[in-house]
Amino acid sequence: MKVAKPIEWTSGGVVMLDQLRLPGEEVYHTYTDYHQVAEAIRTMVIRGAPAIGVAAAMGVAIGVEGSKARTLDELREEFPGICTVLGDTRPTAVDLFWALERMKRKFEQLAAANAPLDAIRRAMVEEARMIHAEKRATDEAMGHFGAQLLPASGQVMTQCNAGALATAGIGSALGVIRVAIEEGHKLSVFVPETRPYLQGARLTTWELHEGGVPLTLITDNMVGHFMKKGKVNAVVVGADRIAANGDTANKIGTYQIAVLAHEHNVPFYVAAPVSTFDLSIPSGEQIPIEERSSEEVTHIRGVRIAPDVDAAHPAFDVTPARLISAIVCERGVARAPYNESLRRLADSSQTSALGSSA
Ligand code: MRU
Repeated sequence: MKVAKPIEWTSGGVVMLDQLRLPGEEVYHTYTDYHQVAEAIRTMVIRGAPAIGVAAAMGVAIGVEGSKARTLDELREEFPGICTVLGDTRPTAVDLFWALERMKRKFEQLAAANAPLDAIRRAMVEEARMIHAEKRATDEAMGHFGAQLLPASGQVMTQCNAGALATAGIGSALGVIRVAIEEGHKLSVFVPETRPYLQGARLTTWELHEGGVPLTLITDNMVGHFMKKGKVNAVVVGADRIAANGDTANKIGTYQIAVLAHEHNVPFYVAAPVSTFDLSIPSGEQIPIEERSSEEVTHIRGVRIAPDVDAAHPAFDVTPARLISAIVCERGVARAPYNESLRRLADSSQTSALGSSA
């Protein structure tokens, strides 16, 4: 199945597919400076929690590689500023901070060993490329665990875009659907458009259509209708941050889909890598929710659709754990009580494909 490539490390810079221009145009930008990478994350040229993590890691690498520092002390001086610029882009997707922490640990390890600057520069690039390379294996492992949860045939609903564009692998929620179809499940997908940024209408339809997966695009306010008519057999969505008790932040609109799924006894699954777990916070109450510009609501692609009025734009919402049937990650499937099962999976090493239902 064709898989989109949202980001690539090249000798000429960090190359990103501009997701603001999809599906109409496939435009690639090459960034040679970490400020540019930060801006690409902030403006959503690249988006989706795991992909934001990969971009942040590559931003740190290109920052260190491009640094004018001539001594380790000078580089030590500069390094925190690079991480701060990237860390200040978007607050909800915890993969961003997971990637920055991993790059910081790598840098500290090299600096503590007093490694030559060139060696540090090469090793930081290598670490960022490794974070990227791991995404495919992570998504495929998640796909195999998640596929077992989906019906042998039927209609699955998702929200936003949790595909290859969002993970830089094969996708989390869309990865589960892809692997299920590759394993013989006969599935078609309901794709809510996902206002205001239309990740569903623009990106998820594009990925599934390019992959030959049958789909039906719906507006966000049609979810209840199709659930009530019994047209939806399961829901699988991605996540931006999962608290220790299983409360899950994802694109705005996910919570209402979960409530409707509960009302109509439709299983509701979350697919997300361990890098999206934030077990340092006890519940969804502590998850920072990004507030984006109201103009993203009053305008569609620069065209005003509403008069000059106040508009709200919380970019994410939190689905309480009680509405989630299971959380799938690359190490297995977690079920309630999530405090125990998520901790067990987070602490466990990679398990065998058949293995772990925590
Ligand atoms: O604002 P976005 O497009 O970055 O929001 C993305 C989502 O909510 C995704 O569902 C989530 O990041 C999971 S991506 C695998």
